[in-house]
Amino acid sequence: MKVFLVAGARPNFMKIAPIYRASLALPGVDCMIVHTGQHYDHEMSQAFFEDLEIPKPTHFLEAGSGSHAVQTAKIMVAFEKICESEKPDLVMVVGDVNSTLACSIVAKKLLIKVAHVEAGLRSFDLTMPEEINRMVTDAISDYFFVTEESGKLNMLREGKPAESVHFVGHVMIDNLLYQIGKLNDGTVNTRELGVYKLKQGRKRYAFMTLHRPSNVDNSETFRGIVSALNEIAEKIPIFFPMHPRTRKMAEQFSVEFSKQIVLLPPLGFKESLFLWKDAEVVFTDSGGLQEETTAMGVPCVTIRENTERPVTVEIGSNVLAGTTRDGILNAYKKSLSKKARASVPPKWDGHAAERIWSILTNSSQVNTKLVKGERL
Ligand code: UD1
Repeated sequence: MKVFLVAGARPNFMKIAPIYRASLALPGVDCMIVHTGQHYDHEMSQAFFEDLEIPKPTHFLEAGSGSHAVQTAKIMVAFEKICESEKPDLVMVVGDVNSTLACSIVAKKLLIKVAHVEAGLRSFDLTMPEEINRMVTDAISDYFFVTEESGKLNMLREGKPAESVHFVGHVMIDNLLYQIGKLNDGTVNTRELGVYKLKQGRKRYAFMTLHRPSNVDNSETFRGIVSALNEIAEKIPIFFPMHPRTRKMAEQFSVEFSKQIVLLPPLGFKESLFLWKDAEVVFTDSGGLQEETTAMGVPCVTIRENTERPVTVEIGSNVLAGTTRDGILNAYKKSLSKKARASVPPKWDGHAAERIWSILTNSSQVNTKLVKGERL
């Protein structure tokens, strides 16, 4: 079975790493990594490949940045060419970025089966580009690998046949557990702040990420968020590795950060984990960090109005803050008291990738191309 495993942007890399690693144990599987090039800076891409032990991609499509239409179109054109020349039996896409959407559409139109890893998540917020990517990808995929119960319910509600929806756990957590085991192997570049953290011993600190266009592309929203975090930073220093988009917008809007917010370049996976795993609290608008903090029982304040990952709030350590100053300050207080009650969601046990391959390799359908007129 020839499989294209697609990744394009930073959050995808954590998800493909365990899937690729698990494929190596399967004699009948030829798993090729396709990197669309949606993210391309060394620190947003290659550094992650190295950190996560992912080999060089078989195909690199060099799509780069652009408007959503331009970026999606560039990926589609380049991906169609390699699908036509390599003729994979299956295209596996992960998450909800533009690369996920672009490659699933191309594959499906070439009658190649599509497996969506992290299917079924819904924020029900159509102003979020990722929600559109999730809905379209799920509308046409053949295999739905879901991470939490809500994903399964959403897929069944949307009319997917039960036998195509598989609750396998979460490959992101496979990666997290694998990497936690590697933190002490001497390869983590702790940079100044890692050293700072070690020097401080058990000193309290917070960790923060912020990059979502809805939070940083609007001056008023961005300023309100930073104003809350500046106030919190008076009580507890905050480490803040900045996404390129956030840095650009902070400069454009002349946003001022408290000196107690320590601004960093984007960090590698291990460096970032090294910092946030011992943080008193994590502030984020990322999808993945809501889940990773839940798996580690670290209090998390999510700077968004909604989440497509409800299990992190229902049984995990996550608190939804909204994006206003008051919302963030209140959620910070609430999150500290929530930690004691938090637990790890079912099947977030480090074995999701194995479950995915077991389902795919036992499926008689994967080697059969779709035929015109076939119904799901
Ligand atoms: C994308 C994903 C988002 C994910 C995020 C993680 C979509 C719709 N969005 O958003 O779901 O959470 O990645 O980072 O797919 N840039 C660089 N260097 C890079 C990549 C981007 O400087 O390597 C700059 C671009 O020039 C652009 C900005 O960062 O100004 C945004 O990049 P883009 O990939 O368009 O979207 P993200 O905001 O990263």
